[in-house]
Parts: sequence; structure tokens; C-alpha cells
Amino acid sequence: MKIGLLGSSVLAVLLVAVLVAGGCVGPLGGSTPPTPEPTATPTVAATATFAPAASPTPTFTVTATPIPTPAPSLTPRPSPSPTASVTPTPLPTVTPVPSGQRALQHVRHLAETIGSRPAGTPQERDAANYIEAQFRSYGYSVTRQGFSFPYFVDRGSSLQVTGPQQEELHPLTMGLSAAGGVEAPLAAAGLARPQDLPREGLRGRIALIQRGEITFDEKVAAVASAGAAGAVIYNNAPGNFRGRLGQIVSIPVVSVSQEEGGRLLELLGKGPVTVRVSVDATSQDRRGENVIATRPGTRPETVIFGAHYDSVEAGPGANDNASGAAAVLELARTAPAGPLTLRFIAFSAEELGLLGSRHYVSTLSQQERQQIVAMVSLDMVGVGDRMRFGGSQQLVQTALAIAREQGSEALALEGSAAGASDHASFISAGIPGILFFYTVGNDIDPRYHSAQDRVSFVDATDIEKMVRLGLTLAARLADGR
Ligand code: BES
Ligand code: ZN
Repeated sequence: MKIGLLGSSVLAVLLVAVLVAGGCVGPLGGSTPPTPEPTATPTVAATATFAPAASPTPTFTVTATPIPTPAPSLTPRPSPSPTASVTPTPLPTVTPVPSGQRALQHVRHLAETIGSRPAGTPQERDAANYIEAQFRSYGYSVTRQGFSFPYFVDRGSSLQVTGPQQEELHPLTMGLSAAGGVEAPLAAAGLARPQDLPREGLRGRIALIQRGEITFDEKVAAVASAGAAGAVIYNNAPGNFRGRLGQIVSIPVVSVSQEEGGRLLELLGKGPVTVRVSVDATSQDRRGENVIATRPGTRPETVIFGAHYDSVEAGPGANDNASGAAAVLELARTAPAGPLTLRFIAFSAEELGLLGSRHYVSTLSQQERQQIVAMVSLDMVGVGDRMRFGGSQQLVQTALAIAREQGSEALALEGSAAGASDHASFISAGIPGILFFYTVGNDIDPRYHSAQDRVSFVDATDIEKMVRLGLTLAARLADGR
């Protein structure tokens, strides 16, 4: 994919996100209600100055530890010899340096030993366990923040006119539709606003609904509570669309094209019509877990380094995003103690719509949101030759300057990376966020989201450079630069 195309892919992404929210109702897929725009950047991000990095964090000693070491392995302090009468001198603290090779071992474990890690699966859980064990081995205590999400598997749907004569239509299943088949008389329900519903109700009917004006959820809730046994939503622009409800519903719901909607209305104009709608799908509540490690600073201002550790089903997700998770582990291991609070988060369920990071942000108080001076999402940092940064302008400018100083070729992401990774969940809440990734020339890694996204294509040096850049960015934010 060309970088220039990311804009359109991101648009598609945003569209999906809007569809998920059930709000995609405008004639061109515009949305109501609109996604709230990021509000002003908290002033602390722009103006805070911080204590010099010299003040050590007394409670935290990082020592270099070999990996993989699942068990905590902080070097024990030597017990004073029985005859010693003086206070033992503390161990010299080794400041570890980022290692691409260590990062690559994490990538190997996540993408090869565990393999594909779709959200809510036992493999994703194994990955969470591994990441937690690594954080612990660096001396962190770890929190796992669980959340549930509806998981939908669509095996297809069908829609036939069964009376007055047989006719086969071409529906798509609405995400989170109920499964099952129902045959019943069709009834036009307009846009399914209260004033659109037939006065006699919809008991034992299948509702024919036009897309637009209100959300899919509102439409389906309205016809279901009027007694409908199923719903067919037709597009308000040419062609069909792939839509998704915001929650699991109790009746089968499918979408059809504007043309097929018109055909059904035409038949209804002539007399009673019976249809059969059938959905083959399963909806389950699944659980994801964000894995969180915090290094308290002397000040409450916080920098978050995050990476999603789930993958798509199609492949092992070595670059997308074992690479980012590995980078976050290396950041956690090597970040020197300083005034800023540093938080390292491995996010679950990014591939299903940034679910883990959205959940995390939703649990923050207003004060906690204002304390976050930057959220850095490392996503696809293992393949390519050009660093790319997208997100909050000031952070992007700082990252570009650091990259230049460190001799890396770097560019701002053209257009907007708005919806593409977990930083977007923070930006939507008014928190400064930035996405770190690489392109191969101008192209996004062509293997991402495929079975070819393998460890052999991941470059240890790429990850190491991003880790160094992250460390420098945190240091600069601590200096208020
Ligand atoms: N790693 C991708 C996002 C990405 C793509 C980053 C290209 C850098 C370069 C991410 O895991 C992803 O696939 N995101 C989805 C959107 C998300 C909201 C489900 C995407 O881009 O399609
Ligand atoms: Zn990703």
C-alpha cells in the first residue's frame, strides 16, 4: 500500500469505526451523531516544566536481566556478612541500553512460539502472560485490566421473497445480528423513527427500513420493540453496505442495496409480500486484557508507551504488532529513572477497533487525562527504512527533530493516521498522542495483516532505533521541551 493511500484506508477505518458505533447514516456514509473532535490539548502538555532528571526514584532499581526469564529476577542485594557492622553499600545500578536482539527474541516468542493472537483467544492470553512475566522480570508490578467485548462471526445470510412469487435477494449480515431464520410478511417502516412505524405495530412482521438519520441501533431497537421478528435495512446510496450494530440484538438483521430495497417497496406497493430472512452467525462476549506496568516518577505528569499485542487471525503478526510490543518491553527495561511517571501498556483487541485502548481511556479520570503529556503508540516498528510519525503536531515535530539528530530518515505521515492505532483513542479524549512506525520507501509493509507477516522480515535494528527515539522523546518531555 502506498503511503498516500493510507488516508483513504484510514477513512475506511474511520468509516468502520463509525459503523461500529451504529452512527453511519448520512447519504454518503456521513455520521450522526458526529464523533467528538479532540478538544484542546491540556495546557500541561505545552507549558509544564519538570524537575531535572537528576532526582532518583528511590523505590526502583533496574538491573540488566537476561531474557527470557519468566520469573522475577531482580538481582538480590547481598545480605550483609554476619561480621559486618557497617551498612552495606547499595549495588551499583546498571543502566541498561536498548537491545534490538532482545526485542527480536520477544518478537520470536510472540509471533512464532505463540503465533497468531486474535483478541479474546487463548493465544492472546498466552501473549499477555508472557508480557506480564517480562515486565515483572524488570522489577515492575503489573496490572491486568480486563474488559469484555462482543465478538461476532458471520457465516453468511440469505433473503428471499417467498410470496407472491419467489425471488432471491443479496443481503449482507449486519454485525451483531441475532442468528436464525424467520419467514413473515414484510412491512415498510421508513427510517424507523417513532413517526415512521405503522400504527398497527410490527408484530410478526419483518421490517423494511431505510438507512439514514438515526443509528442502526436505534432503528433495530424501535422495530424490535414494536414486535418485528426481523429487519432488512436498505442503503440510502447505490449498492449495499457492510454495517455493524453496537450491541448484540434479539432479531436477525440484514442489509440490502438501495436497488433491492426499491424492489421490495415496489412489490409492497402492489400487495402483501412475504419474505424469509436467515442469518448464520455467532455472537459471544469475549474478554481482553490490557497489561500495564508503571514506573512512578517524582512528578505526576505521565508519558505512556503503548503497543497492541493482539494480531489479526490471518497471520502471526510479527511486524503488526509483536514488534511494537517488543519495543515497549525494551522501553520498560531500559528507561532511566526520571521525574516523569512512565507507563507501559500492552493493549488488547486493537485489531477489532482499538478496543483495549478505548477501554483504558474510558477508565481515566479528568485529572488523570490531564496528567498524560504524551501517549506513544508503537505499531509496526520492525519492517522498513523510513520512520513515520503521525498524530499530535507538537509531538510529531519533536519526534522528527530527534530522528534527524539520531541520523534516521524520518517523515511525518501525510494526511492523517487518525484512526489507525491506539494513539487515536487518546487523541479523541484530548490527550496528545503519536504513532511511531516505518514504511518501506513510501510503502506500508506489504505483508501486514497477512500470513506473510513473519519474524524473518523483522529487523532488530529498526526496533532498537525506535526504542532509542522513544527514550529521547521521554527525556525531552521531562525537560519541558
Ligand atoms: N498496525 C495497523 C495500523 C497501521 C497501518 C499502522 C499501517 C502503521 C501503518 C493496525 O493494527 C490496524 O490494522 N488498524 C486498523 C484500524 C483499526 C481501527 C482496526 C487498520 O489500519 O485497518
Ligand atoms: Zn497494528
